[in-house]
Amino acid sequence: MEEKSIHYNQLDPAIESRVNDLLAKMTLSEKVGQLVQENPFEAVDWMAVMKQKALAEEQGLPFRFHQELRPDFEAILLAGRVGVINSAEVGIINQLQRKAVEGSHLHIPLLVGHDVIHGFRTVFPIPLAEACTWDPELIEQAAHAAAEEASACGINWVFSPMVDIARDPRWGRIAEGSGEDPFLGMAMAKAQVRGYQRDDLKSGRRMAACPKHYVGYGAVEAGRDYNTVDLSERTLRDVYLPPFKAAFEAGAGSTMSAFNEIGGVPGTCNPFTLRTILRQEWTWPGVVISDFNAIGELVQHGVAVDLKDASRLSILAGVDIDMESGGYARYLAELVEEKAVPIEVVDEAVRRVLRLKFGLGLFEHPYNEEGLAETIHLNAEFRSLALQAAHESMVLLKNNANLLPLKPGKNRIALIGPLADNRTDLLGTWAISGQAADVDTVLQGIRNYLPDSMLTSVQGCALTGTDPVDFSAAVAAAREADVVILVLGEGVAMSGEAHSRTHLGLPARQQELLDAVAAAGKPIVCVLMSGRPLVVPHLVEQVDALLAAWHGGIRAGQAVADILFGTVNPSGKLTASWPRAEGQIPVYYAHKSTGRPAESKGTTQFDVPFRSTHLDEPNAPAFGFGCGLSYTRFEYTDLVVETPSLPLEGTLAVSAAIKNTGERAGTEVVQLYIRDLVASVTRPVKELKGFTRVALQPGEEQRVRFELPVKELGFSGLDMSYIVEPGRFKVWIGPDSSQGLEGEFVVRP
Ligand code: BGC
Repeated sequence: MEEKSIHYNQLDPAIESRVNDLLAKMTLSEKVGQLVQENPFEAVDWMAVMKQKALAEEQGLPFRFHQELRPDFEAILLAGRVGVINSAEVGIINQLQRKAVEGSHLHIPLLVGHDVIHGFRTVFPIPLAEACTWDPELIEQAAHAAAEEASACGINWVFSPMVDIARDPRWGRIAEGSGEDPFLGMAMAKAQVRGYQRDDLKSGRRMAACPKHYVGYGAVEAGRDYNTVDLSERTLRDVYLPPFKAAFEAGAGSTMSAFNEIGGVPGTCNPFTLRTILRQEWTWPGVVISDFNAIGELVQHGVAVDLKDASRLSILAGVDIDMESGGYARYLAELVEEKAVPIEVVDEAVRRVLRLKFGLGLFEHPYNEEGLAETIHLNAEFRSLALQAAHESMVLLKNNANLLPLKPGKNRIALIGPLADNRTDLLGTWAISGQAADVDTVLQGIRNYLPDSMLTSVQGCALTGTDPVDFSAAVAAAREADVVILVLGEGVAMSGEAHSRTHLGLPARQQELLDAVAAAGKPIVCVLMSGRPLVVPHLVEQVDALLAAWHGGIRAGQAVADILFGTVNPSGKLTASWPRAEGQIPVYYAHKSTGRPAESKGTTQFDVPFRSTHLDEPNAPAFGFGCGLSYTRFEYTDLVVETPSLPLEGTLAVSAAIKNTGERAGTEVVQLYIRDLVASVTRPVKELKGFTRVALQPGEEQRVRFELPVKELGFSGLDMSYIVEPGRFKVWIGPDSSQGLEGEFVVRP
């Protein structure tokens, strides 16, 4: 899709004059109202709701959850004391919009935010899996489908994309982002923003994007959610900030600040990240919303005395909207009256919020057509997009002796495992509007390829629980079969927010199930579903073929079957490394060399055996960034660096021939990496700088050419400003981060 360059810091004069007119008419209390997101619903017993949901899912029934409105909320809206709500129920949203628009003094519509993270009713694979498609056009379409479905329910603001770089698979929220790499993260961030907003935000069928969590949240210590972050400014600038900048350049007009601190200063009241970088350096005019109750949590962080103090710190640092801590609603006007907060700071925050509301066209069409959702949700186009995304997201990690693809009708199959006939867990984390009843199970998918007489399905064990399990039925099924398909992995509640893990192996009794089944001696295909990279070295040895299928959304089951039986040739590649052992974490391809790299033998005058390694594992992960197999083979030859010497203003041009030397058509994700060999600060041993998907018929060859402006080869220099330094670079075109054809070029001063 053609990239549209949006100048995010150029304001629309027509909108600015409407904003200023409105602002001039607002009372202090109305101004504060625009900066408040509040829950319009009565408190809910979430445990009871989850139980009802689980029951409905067990019975294969759709689950509908109705929340009761707070009796005092109408008066709050009429007085203009709330500007933002979170809901997904069109009837209620219309009702509340009507109060705000028709009942309040200045008729200002509400922003309706919601977490639509990987699809709405049509649930796509989790974002980490979506990234493994390396297909930004597809991910843009998926985000667009989500906007169509969610906006039909009255949602106009999406708390997505999550653009946090994550290099620690213990962190449960690695599921919600694109993985470990800033370049890929930028591409996915832009794709999602474009998909949510397109260039007609005002059409009423779009959602304003809100990249989150600004910033550094993926670097929480020990991968424990909400934990401390202590990042160097250089890593912050070169790794964690770029996806946010990319999202803003693609037109995102808001961001959500992060729960975590960075080096002692929480993201909710961090003047450096919120003011110096966002406002001064980037001159970004968008809205910052806090994360949920994060303003209140400044008290627990220990930087605020109480909620009032926390509110003061947050507004002064640059958080425009308070998400549900109640601090701004209760104290902001008072803080202004006491002159602890200048009115200009509040005015600027209100301007930003109004800008977003005008930009969305909410003043022109605040209401939504009821009944529209039913005609849009789960339509054939979106369902087939979800299937395509699931196909492209799955990563083949092992395929001994070409066990896969299986030939339909040739082998008797034993389908075993807690995720084989499972719907709920395939939806993945943050699938609030997803329905288990909409999900294709793997069993269903496989039944489309095999008669029942060739298939035995046994659960084997549960996803959770440590009670002893009788594996005899699973073992008997394996003995009777020619091939065993084991569908193992994590349940939905094992990743996502506040769901970090320290042991990243198979949960519950699943390893024992695998051991028992493996003893039957039949070839094993393992379909591994998860919300993160897992640490499963023993499993990798035990099975003959391994497909990382993630939590793949409503079409995951069909997609797995299509891949196992060869209707679809897998093309996904990992975007976060799979460690060999938890002790390697963080392990990522773009690490630094160190003074004593593992492979340093013979490269220094002292050939010391003291190197940067562990005694008990190699440095490389089990499966590295960018890797993934296909049912065909791709051969890389003839790297041509067309610009071996080029000026600082030049553009690197490099190409290679890729040939499909196997017997099947397939798609290869071709990757471009560079290394800046000598610079004033240390640089990663490899950096992704380009990628493309190439579809090739058997025997077909294509020359893949990348162009890369030298100005994109820079980094934060000694003084932290962005700099591109002349000198020698290495360049690779290859199938993953660990291999490829190597060349060199020089950037002239
Ligand atoms: C999460 C955010 C989310 C927000 C609103 C928070 O707990 O950290 O990612 O957007 O809730 O639901």
